[in-house]
Parts: sequence; structure tokens; C-alpha cells
Amino acid sequence: MKKRKRLVLLFVLFLVIGSFFLVSMFLSPKVSLKIEELSLYEKKEIKDLISIQNGTLINMETLDTTTIGKKKIEVIIKDKINRKHTYTFEIMVVDKEKPTITSPKEIKVEEGEDVDLLKGVKAIDNSKETIQVTVEGEYDLKKVGEYTIYYVAKDTSGNEAKEEAKLIVSEKKKDVSPKGTSSSNVVDKTFTTKNGFKGVTKNGVTFIDGLLIANKTYSLPSTYGNGLTTETINAFNKMKEAAKREGLNIYISSGFRSYNKQNTIYNNYVARDGKKEADTYSARAGYSEHQTGLAFDVNTISSAFDNTKEAKWLANNCYKYGFILRYPKGKDNETGYMYESWHFRYIGDEVLAEKLYNNGDWITLEAYFGITSKYEK
Ligand code: DAL
Ligand code: ZN
Repeated sequence: MKKRKRLVLLFVLFLVIGSFFLVSMFLSPKVSLKIEELSLYEKKEIKDLISIQNGTLINMETLDTTTIGKKKIEVIIKDKINRKHTYTFEIMVVDKEKPTITSPKEIKVEEGEDVDLLKGVKAIDNSKETIQVTVEGEYDLKKVGEYTIYYVAKDTSGNEAKEEAKLIVSEKKKDVSPKGTSSSNVVDKTFTTKNGFKGVTKNGVTFIDGLLIANKTYSLPSTYGNGLTTETINAFNKMKEAAKREGLNIYISSGFRSYNKQNTIYNNYVARDGKKEADTYSARAGYSEHQTGLAFDVNTISSAFDNTKEAKWLANNCYKYGFILRYPKGKDNETGYMYESWHFRYIGDEVLAEKLYNNGDWITLEAYFGITSKYEK
């Protein structure tokens, strides 16, 4: 009898526990995600994103959609017998809008003109990221014609914007003389370098294979130049922007120098170190590349710059923007000057610049053309 009573009791207990579980299962909330993806800046409250059965939502915030990416939301639900349950879900915030490009509809240039097609072109995106614009299409700035080009901008979510523009390359009007010289274009002399390049000296300015050369052999008139050329500044700004994207800061600390300015600088060095020493690192007035408007010094003008991240980046990337490291290490005998990690020369031609870069083992202009850099006396 006692045994039977115990069995009955056990059965009743089992029934009570079992039904408790059944009831609580029945009372448990059922929560699921209704929306898995939201657009940038789309406003949705948590209650709009999930469906709930057997419960009520306690937390009512709005999801932050001001940045793209996976967002975690924590949902707290109260069931019918006031128990709290927490659930977490993931929602993707995506950018579906393409960037907006501000670009010209028509660009007119003269054949052979060194033009920056990206000048003044901008792209903005709702993701607020920096958007690069590139130029696409087939065109030849050296050939007269009308071309269709496209300004293309893509954000990191892959949304692409494209703006069409007409590029008109017209015939070159006349050969413009270099800044600061008379317009008569007097050819003083022509010559051929040791490596077979054609050289010409016009109005006292020497060009080899079309490239202006200033060194200890080839001087400039004292009236030459009036500032860094627009092409040099534009190319520098592009390079500066690229460096900035790498977290680097580059700035011009000495750009164009007039004959008089160079004279003062050089004479100060002579007074300090003597002429022989000064000639190894400073140009005499009339011989400095700073007088060309195509060269400049960046950041710290001393060997303290050599091992900086900026110096290393510039030495390995400047050619992409048409610049060369003008006085490379160990090439004093060729350039006439000791190593300057801070002095860059704009040559415009990225193909030649890359050739001179030579995978990091810089070839000097002197070695490339087969010319000297030596004072007559
Ligand atoms: N430091 C360079 C060589 C100049 O004076 O132009
Ligand atoms: Zn310099």
C-alpha cells in the first residue's frame, strides 16, 4: 500500500512539472527578424524590424544607420507572466546610392598640352568616404580630335557613378616661350649628347630631348622664371593627396627661388663652410634647379628627413606623379651634388620618371642623357 501511494505521488509530481513546462513553452515569446538589410540613413525603430509572438517589446530605440556595416541589436521581450528574455540579431546597413560627381561637360585643350583632366573634379558620397575619380575612355591629348571621356567614381559598396564629357583637342597655336624669357625664341645652339639625345639652348635655357635642364653645366638666365609652374603645383597636390591617404604629410618648404634669392642662399653657405664645401650641396646663382619653377624641397631640408616615412614614400612613389628624386644617394659625381632626400624635380613624363626611378635605384638625368654637371671654373 505504501509503495502504491508513493507511486501515485510521483506520478502527480511528474504531471505538475510536465504541465508547468508545457505552459511555460506555450508562454515563451517567439521573436524573429523581419528585415535583414537597411539602407544608409534609413530610419527604423527596433519594433519595425522584428515580429513578436507571445510577448511585448521593452526596448524601443532606433537603429543607427549613419554608417555602413553589420549592426547588432539587442531585443528585450517581456512574456505573459512578466519574465524578461533577451535576443540579439544582426542587421546589415548598406549603401545603395552612387556618388555624385561634379565635373565639366566639355574640356578644350591644345594638342600636346599638359592638362590635368581631374582638376576641379570632385565626387561626394552619402557614406562620407573619400571617393577617387578616374578618367575613362579613349583619347589622345597629343592628337587633334573630339573624344568622349567618362569621369568614374565608385564607393566602397560598389555603387558606381559615371559622367560623360566631351574632350576637344585642337591644333596647337604657336610654340610658347618659357616663362620669363623674351618671345623671340632665339636658338643659341643645338647639340647631341653622349647618349644621342638632341639638345637645344634657346634664350639661354637648355632643353635635352625637350626637357629643361639646369645643373652645374647648364645654367639659366638671371631673369628666368616667376614661380612654380601650374603643372608642377597640380602634380604636387595630387601627390600630396595620395600621401595624405597613407597618413603622411608632405608640404613644400622651398619652391621657386629667383636668381637673387639663390645668390643670397649660396653666399651664406660659402661664408659658413667655404666655397669648395658649399658647391657640394648648394647651387651657385644661375645654376639652381629651384630657378626653373619645376623643382622644390619638401618638409625638413636636412638629412633628418632621410629616414622618415614621408621620404621613403616619396622616393618610391613620386615617379607616378611625374617627379624624380633629383639628387640620389651616391650619385654626387653625376649630379654634382650630395644626396638630397627632400629635393624633387617635375619632369611631367611619368613613363620617363618611372624609367629613372628604376625600381628604386634612381638613374640621374645626367647619366640618362649622357651629360655632365660641372662648373667651367
Ligand atoms: N640644393 C640644390 C642643389 C640647390 O641649391 O639648388
Ligand atoms: Zn632643393
